[in-house]
Amino acid sequence: MIKTVSPNNNDDINADITSHDTFEKGFPHKAFKRMRDEDPCAWIDETDGGSGFWSVTRYKDIKEVNGLPKIFSSAQGIRLEEQSKEEFEARKTFQETDPPVHTRQRMMFHRGFTRKLISTYEPMIRDICNDIINEAVDLGEVDATKEIARKLPMRMLGRVVGTPDEDAEWLVSRGDSMIANSDPDFTDYVIDKVDTDEYRFLPFRSPAGKEIYDYGEKQKRLREDHDMGDVMSMLLQPNKQGDKISDLEFKNFFALMVAAGNDTTRYSMAFSMHAIANNPYIFDCLKSAPDDAPVWASATEEFIRWASPTMHFRRTATEDYKLHGKQIREGDKVVIWFTSGNYDERKFSNPFSLILERENNQHIAFGQGGPHACLGMWLARLEVRVAMQELLKRVSKIEQIGPEKYLRSNFIRGIKNLPVKLTSA
Ligand code: HEM
Repeated sequence: MIKTVSPNNNDDINADITSHDTFEKGFPHKAFKRMRDEDPCAWIDETDGGSGFWSVTRYKDIKEVNGLPKIFSSAQGIRLEEQSKEEFEARKTFQETDPPVHTRQRMMFHRGFTRKLISTYEPMIRDICNDIINEAVDLGEVDATKEIARKLPMRMLGRVVGTPDEDAEWLVSRGDSMIANSDPDFTDYVIDKVDTDEYRFLPFRSPAGKEIYDYGEKQKRLREDHDMGDVMSMLLQPNKQGDKISDLEFKNFFALMVAAGNDTTRYSMAFSMHAIANNPYIFDCLKSAPDDAPVWASATEEFIRWASPTMHFRRTATEDYKLHGKQIREGDKVVIWFTSGNYDERKFSNPFSLILERENNQHIAFGQGGPHACLGMWLARLEVRVAMQELLKRVSKIEQIGPEKYLRSNFIRGIKNLPVKLTSA
């Protein structure tokens, strides 16, 4: 069964893909389609003093680049932003390393996020959804991003890693201020508008990064002599090989988790609710499906492909490489656009249709195919599925009652406001 829905478009076929303003008008699908068709490895100049970069927009090429970490390294930066060596070293997380250094650190963090362990959290995640969704349904007319999608992921991640529920709202606001550093709705330190030089050694050049570092260190101290039985305590213990996470590694991992585990899942939920509110077919099909129906697994993958909230990551070429006849030179920045790959007609049939039963959905929203594939993917999938299941159980209708608003960011794709009316079941 196929259902086509509007793909949240910014129709400018020549949109500037480096500009945060572009994405505030919606994802420029037409511009990316033009690049996929006409110039799939395009050189893009940067107007803010950046060196420029190669923009890789086809699914197959993104997988190729992502699967060659020796040639396309993460160890010289993963964002468009140019950083000095000192800035890079101060802010570096294990995401900004290559194998074998990366493999060792990833093995230590991985044990807290395995599919098996994460699946045990389902009942607890359902409980959190109940509280938050009940409150939203009682209100009736709400901003679904703010009242549902924004509140859930940090509460869920907090329970998994072991931060107290009462700190979740503070962590969300600090996380937003840090990662949404280009949107004035979330920070006073808008990266392309005010001088953030003072904060250049902090994650995302944001003063909120320091607050998150300090909070992470406090949590670590609480666990130093005392196993609290949570993922954080587990991560602070040596692993089977006897490796232990250093203070700096832990601090940066904590900041990465607050950044990575917070808004990406939120916006996956926001895009899911947007699709459900605007398509009676999607609403009816999922509302009538029991929690263990196979359609929930395929619909969750499709919602995440549809949302593709992490739009790109950057690599740096360590040697010359040819792609589509273009000569990439050692030292060039190469940007892989996961969102574009997930809408590539060469890979997905009817990519602009949200197909709940889409088979063999090999989307790359989690950066699959490379060593850095999302550590939190099982948690994110569980959160999106359970949140949508619990929401649909509590409502007989969801209507969008005003225009949605998009995040001002060329990095994270998000519906930051989604006004809806929820009618109680
Ligand atoms: C729908 C939600 C999510 C999306 C779309 C997403 C997307 C991604 C992507 C594309 C990458 C690859 C980065 C790269 O290639 O450099 C990544 C890595 C990562 N993600 Fe997620 N993420 C999500 C949720 C989460 C959650 C809930 C966590 C919580 C722990 C998390 C933690 C991480 C970490 C730690 C990495 C770095 C892994 C590494 O470098 O080995 N993510 N994510």
